[in-house]
Amino acid sequence: MNPIKHVAIIMDGNGRWGINKKKSRNYGHQQGLKTVEKIIIESLKKNIRYLTLFAFSTENWKRPKSEIKFLFSLLEKFLIKKIKAFHKNKIKLFIIGKKNFSKKLNNLLNESERLTSKNNKLQINLALNYGSKSEIVSTFDIIKKKGLKISEKTISKNLYTGNIPDPDILIRTGNTNRLSNFLLWQLAYSEIFFEKKLWPDFNKKDYNRIINNYKKIKRNFGDIQ
Ligand code: FPP
Repeated sequence: MNPIKHVAIIMDGNGRWGINKKKSRNYGHQQGLKTVEKIIIESLKKNIRYLTLFAFSTENWKRPKSEIKFLFSLLEKFLIKKIKAFHKNKIKLFIIGKKNFSKKLNNLLNESERLTSKNNKLQINLALNYGSKSEIVSTFDIIKKKGLKISEKTISKNLYTGNIPDPDILIRTGNTNRLSNFLLWQLAYSEIFFEKKLWPDFNKKDYNRIINNYKKIKRNFGDIQ
């Protein structure tokens, strides 16, 4: 049976969900956040050690200002409301991506990371203003500055995810079969599950089905068996 340490998720389909319900894209994001909470609780129950969530990409800045503003205010309210409960449940919050937001949000993110930094039950890597190609370029710069040799090991170690094992599972909801510049290096050997459901409809039953299917997969990592 394959042990699961790390699940990564591209939470796609909020906007379409809101429109399908004859409401707004932002309403879809609000409902999407409820799914985030459910999946965090389920991950705790399943003893998953790392959960990486793609919340905002470097490409998402192309969206209307009103949607961007709504997303970040949703995140702010969510953190203010939940960070103490995260801490109580030994959840560590770690941001991957370039933190160049408002001073208020940057402070809140830094403070949330600091408060939870010693927790070791579940680490949530929240990808915000994250792009994998830009991460890889920054990593090469870091390696150069440190005077290290380029190798698979030095690259892996100097990514945002440096101390974290690569994802065992990638889930993408929303009926779209692509990686969208997410963890391109880290996903080299992950099992990928593309789900038709839009993110607000994704539920704990779907999550458990994927986890159970993953456990049955024979992972050879290029070997034969
Ligand atoms: C993708 O759906 C979703 C996002 C770009 C944002 C993800 C945000 C949440 C799940 C809720 C908020 C969570 C936090 C942490 C603030 P989409 O808008 O691209 O959907 P579409 O493909 O239907 O347009």
